[in-house]
Amino acid sequence: MNNQVVVEAPAKINLTLKVVAKRTDGYHELETVMQQINLCDQIFIDTADQGIIVNSNSNEIPQNKSNLAYKAAHLLCEQFAIKLGLRIYINKKIPVGAGLAGGSTDAAAVLLGINELFNLQISNQDLLELGLQIGSDVPFCILGGTAIARGRGEILTPMLPGPRLEMLLVKPPFQLSTAEIFRALRLEELSNCPDNAAFLEAWGRYDIIGITAQMKNDLEAVSIAKCPVILTIKNRLYQLGAFHSLMSGSGPSVVGFFHDRDAAVRAWQAIKDTYNESYLVTTYL
Ligand code: C5P
Repeated sequence: MNNQVVVEAPAKINLTLKVVAKRTDGYHELETVMQQINLCDQIFIDTADQGIIVNSNSNEIPQNKSNLAYKAAHLLCEQFAIKLGLRIYINKKIPVGAGLAGGSTDAAAVLLGINELFNLQISNQDLLELGLQIGSDVPFCILGGTAIARGRGEILTPMLPGPRLEMLLVKPPFQLSTAEIFRALRLEELSNCPDNAAFLEAWGRYDIIGITAQMKNDLEAVSIAKCPVILTIKNRLYQLGAFHSLMSGSGPSVVGFFHDRDAAVRAWQAIKDTYNESYLVTTYL
């Protein structure tokens, strides 16, 4: 048995996000197209004598039991009666509290990593179910690629890869709480919601105009009301040549979509001194 694994943990963005209904269990019924991007944390998992220890280069994430990576490790150690300890190091590159599933992807990587380290041979379905116990976005982070997610986010239909997207991701210098944004959402006030059927149809045809027409996020107006700088960044990305600009998840990260890499690089050069958490990214396959 190896005593270390290293797992890549990519961020996700939401290309569409439709909130269908409020559920009685406190969650919302969603229909959202999720896409992994090539902005990744790196997770190192080592066996140790006993206990679970989480460390990171980032002081913005908890280095204790409340870290989703810790919760994932704890869950597997309990379920599979793992007696050895684990030392987990998170090399954090994904902005925190940003709408990019940074904590969820670390948890997904820990589940996948421990499965490999101990050769547990957990089925894909069981991994997805274990992931959902940690958080709504974890199953998608386990599946990866591009998928439409329904329910809380756990009913996943994988999608074929679409066009490679050249993006500039900008994270304003604050965090938003997903729970708080969902709490502030008034479903009856939603308008201009994404049509996911039209999105999927356009995606299958690599029809960038049709895809763009449906790249909308029902949570955007709520997050902008709390943090108007999200709108400032969207407008700036359009000024800098983006053909579309969209908030990811519950925000506050904003993604600008560009016709080619050079255009995205020029925009990044113009914006990086104002927003130092700005990243050139593409779809992760
Ligand atoms: O599942 P997770 O812990 O990541 O969700 C964080 C919070 O986001 C939930 O407590 C809930 O308030 C909100 N949420 C929601 N509907 C979803 C996913 C998350 O209302 N489908």
